[in-house]
Amino acid sequence: ATKYSIAVIPGDGIGPEVVAEAVKVLDAVTEPAGITLDKTTYPLGAEHWLATGEVLSDETMDKLRGHDAILFGAVGAAPNDTRIPSGILERDLLLKLRFTFDHYINLRPATLYPGTTSPLAEPGDIDFVVVREGTEGLYAGNGGRVRQGTEHEIATEVSINTAHGVRRLVKYAFELAQKRPRKKLTLVHKHNVLVNAGRLYQETVNEFAPQYPDVTVDYLHIDAATIFLTTDPSRFDVIVTDNLFGDILTDQAGAVTGGIGLAPCGNINADRTAPSMFEPVHGSAPDIAGTATAQPVASILAAAMMLEHLGHEDLADQINQAVRRDLETHGNEQRSTDQVGDHIVAALKAA
Ligand code: NAD
Ligand code: IPM
Ligand code: MN
Repeated sequence: ATKYSIAVIPGDGIGPEVVAEAVKVLDAVTEPAGITLDKTTYPLGAEHWLATGEVLSDETMDKLRGHDAILFGAVGAAPNDTRIPSGILERDLLLKLRFTFDHYINLRPATLYPGTTSPLAEPGDIDFVVVREGTEGLYAGNGGRVRQGTEHEIATEVSINTAHGVRRLVKYAFELAQKRPRKKLTLVHKHNVLVNAGRLYQETVNEFAPQYPDVTVDYLHIDAATIFLTTDPSRFDVIVTDNLFGDILTDQAGAVTGGIGLAPCGNINADRTAPSMFEPVHGSAPDIAGTATAQPVASILAAAMMLEHLGHEDLADQINQAVRRDLETHGNEQRSTDQVGDHIVAALKAA
């Protein structure tokens, strides 16, 4: 029998609510296939930090490293929660995981499912994937504050972009584009202003392009990309972009495909030197936590991405198809978080 060891980090706010549904669906699809997911839950997040002072210790990191994959909910406090300074959980927990485990591919599919409603009048057929860089750029934490608190304070955040980092990202994006029917790759950056990093990205794309002659290559500045994401989203197939642009673009992508609660994310270490991590694109949504109204589909689709990463494309596909069928029939109904999970399990069983 095949067995995997999975770390589960439910986190804060709606994190535990949506992860519970993802686990429910995972069990429903793996058990009949004779696959055991041996799950260990790590109670990390705001409350754990307040209670113990641990955000994410080296000891916990060592334990996490031993798992085959990590299923993550969301972390982060409400903006008005003065007990927790903004950034502690985001940087020292989530980004620490992404950086330490070298999740250099932040993979974010954007699909408009039948039965869901885009806010766009004519959305067309939206089906693209954002390949966001996951370990560099403005997220690197390279900056500081000098003369802090004075009128002459200077606060810097210096974007780090390495040839190594950009090459492995761009190569992955080309490989992905080549496997998809439309075979189109759009680099999104801002090389008219960010001439250093922008040119590194553009030159890297130009360098790889001849190796993928069947892939159509395009370029958009980030500001224009947000226009087209609203006016003509079906033009996109694979988007490759840096860490911050990818963050912003994928929240917008979630919104145009019927809601951020439907958008999954894989933090992938494509070299498999450490466990990859799967989560929804959204955060802890403190504004709706505890109301049982969180949409768990993003988490459920992230669980499918996890199964695919573990080599079970067939099972991932079963989940994707069950989600598709469920949304087609119930997509526009008011449902509680656990009802959605139950319906998707029922759709799986009915297949
Ligand atoms: P958010 O994604 O948590 O919420 C933005 C809006 O989307 C809110 O109105 C929320 O109710 C709604 N929303 C999000 N997920 C939903 C779902 N599954 N179903 C229905 N509605 C949903 O972003 P935010 O408000 O900017 O951040 C809240 C906290 O989460 C902050 O502390 C932030 O740092 C953190 N955060 C964490 C992650 C992560 O852990 N991966 C990601 C983003 C933000
Ligand atoms: C996301 C989140 C994170 C990011 C934050 C919480 C660090 O917004 O996963 O999109 O910016 O990557
Ligand atoms: Mn984000």
